[in-house]
Amino acid sequence: MTTHLTTSTEEAAEVLRRGELVAFPTETVYGLGADAFQPSAVRQIFEAKGRPSDNPLIVHLWNRDQIPQVAARIPASASRLLEHFVPGPLTLILPKHEDVPAVVTAGLDTVGVRLPRHPVARSFLRACATPVPAPSANRSGRPSPTSWEDVYEDLNGRIACILQGERTPEGVESTVVDCTSEPPIVLRPGAVTVESLREVLEEVEVATESEADASGRSPGTRHRHYAPSAQVSLVEDPSQAEPSSDAAFIGLDAPAAPEAFGRVLVVPNLEAYAHDLFHFFRACDGADVSVIYAQTVPGEGLGLALNDRLRRAAAR
Ligand code: TXA
Ligand code: MG
Repeated sequence: MTTHLTTSTEEAAEVLRRGELVAFPTETVYGLGADAFQPSAVRQIFEAKGRPSDNPLIVHLWNRDQIPQVAARIPASASRLLEHFVPGPLTLILPKHEDVPAVVTAGLDTVGVRLPRHPVARSFLRACATPVPAPSANRSGRPSPTSWEDVYEDLNGRIACILQGERTPEGVESTVVDCTSEPPIVLRPGAVTVESLREVLEEVEVATESEADASGRSPGTRHRHYAPSAQVSLVEDPSQAEPSSDAAFIGLDAPAAPEAFGRVLVVPNLEAYAHDLFHFFRACDGADVSVIYAQTVPGEGLGLALNDRLRRAAAR
């Protein structure tokens, strides 16, 4: 299969409606979409990515009027979050509508729903005129793709089409909130901070990693994630990084002798860290780096999501 590249949302939507796979930009990372109501198309997503079939997909919509097509009901907590954060980088776990094929939700009776705010994503989803389940458009286990070139690197020849857009602005995935539990609980920290969720819903809780893993509520968190081929080693301070020409460093503080590393990225703030993290991981793989020292950050705001991705990338 040759992978077709296009900037036309109409053309990309036509490919999807034919039952084929289309990668598309969102404000977080690129997604790999299929038509929710063509189970054989959705099955191809798992094949193309090498994704374990027990890991449910997030369904993407362009308009909230579509929610009743995929969810059986909208709990009160979800309504409040919809009002304040949607469209945007937030995924709501809702009770599943019986018509949604089991392959989309990996057999769960809940469904993840997300309305991106990215204009290209919205115009594509609108043209698709069907709910679009889409995981991140990377080979399973690899860093999420923040450019169409990243998607091409991982999936060229395995998917029908890439809708080309700019680099994704957030760089880290959506926050996943389970609204079927009382109180609602954050299963995956992401681009919407827990502090801002709590301004709207004071009672929101955050699952510890082991809770999210053990409960089976967020099956995705069980699997290895976000890892470049280089080994990722977490440091609290740049002085803990061992300089060498095949080592790289990324963090908020500059190492004493940056020229002693093969590659260094010092970011000015958490937003820039999130924007550049996966991109940096992939650049290191292209440059024969064998170890990446990544500086952890204070666990507040976007720091919670960043530390989560860093820990998962380092675990192997
Ligand atoms: O920002 C994002 O969320 C990106 C873009 C493309 O929208 N998508 C994304 O999808 O990160 P993925 O498949 O890489 O991660 C989805 C996460 C997984 O951890 C999965 O287990 C969880 O959401 N999830 C999906 N449906 C779920 C459900 N019904 N219950 C619990 N967790 C669910
Ligand atoms: Mg992913």
